[in-house]
Amino acid sequence: MATTGTALETRRLTPADAPDLAALAARLGSSETSVQWVRFLSRPDAVGIAAVVDGAIVGYAAGEVRGGFGLPAPAAWIEAFGIDLSWRGHGVGRTLLGDLLGSFRTAGAAHVYTVVPVHDRSLVPFFRQAGLRDEPLACLGCDL
Ligand SMILES: CC(C)(COP(=O)(O)OP(=O)(O)OC[C@H]1O[C@@H](n2cnc3c(N)ncnc32)[C@H](O)[C@@H]1OP(=O)(O)O)[C@@H](O)C(=O)NCCC(=O)NCCS
Repeated sequence: MATTGTALETRRLTPADAPDLAALAARLGSSETSVQWVRFLSRPDAVGIAAVVDGAIVGYAAGEVRGGFGLPAPAAWIEAFGIDLSWRGHGVGRTLLGDLLGSFRTAGAAHVYTVVPVHDRSLVPFFRQAGLRDEPLACLGCDL
């Protein structure tokens, strides 16, 4: 359980964090495996930030700067974002997002996107509160 006054630190994620990230993601209902995290964090354009308390990862934020989608310039994409249940509501998400956006800017991005389930009641209000807005893009898909 979170306790007030405990020092929160942030640092870059590395492939060595993959087992802890997979365990935390699983607790949040996400399916990324350790192998997938290693692959993702080994990509040259990947940006990943950890929120750490007493040496343990309590939150992660990850994405990349990439071109494509017919956009006029490379843009940042937030692909994974989660805070351990017992650490929510303490500003960890705000701190992580600030660090992630700063890293994206440093990597040359001038705009950030993310894709969130329309009815998600946690990430949608969080990102809106942080200033992200609906984009004029359609998210399309089908079964394969
Ligand atoms: C959304 C989430 C990242 C917020 O993290 P958090 O550390 O609790 O957020 P913070 O305490 O930093 O809150 C920052 C701001 O967002 C707001 N906020 C956070 N969660 C919110 C929610 N569910 N509804 C409305 N506002 C919310 C806070 O009120 C706060 O606003 P303020 O700056 O005006 O005070 C966290 O709830 C989470 O991890 N959700 C699950 C995500 C998930 O499923 N990830 C796996 C798939 S990628």
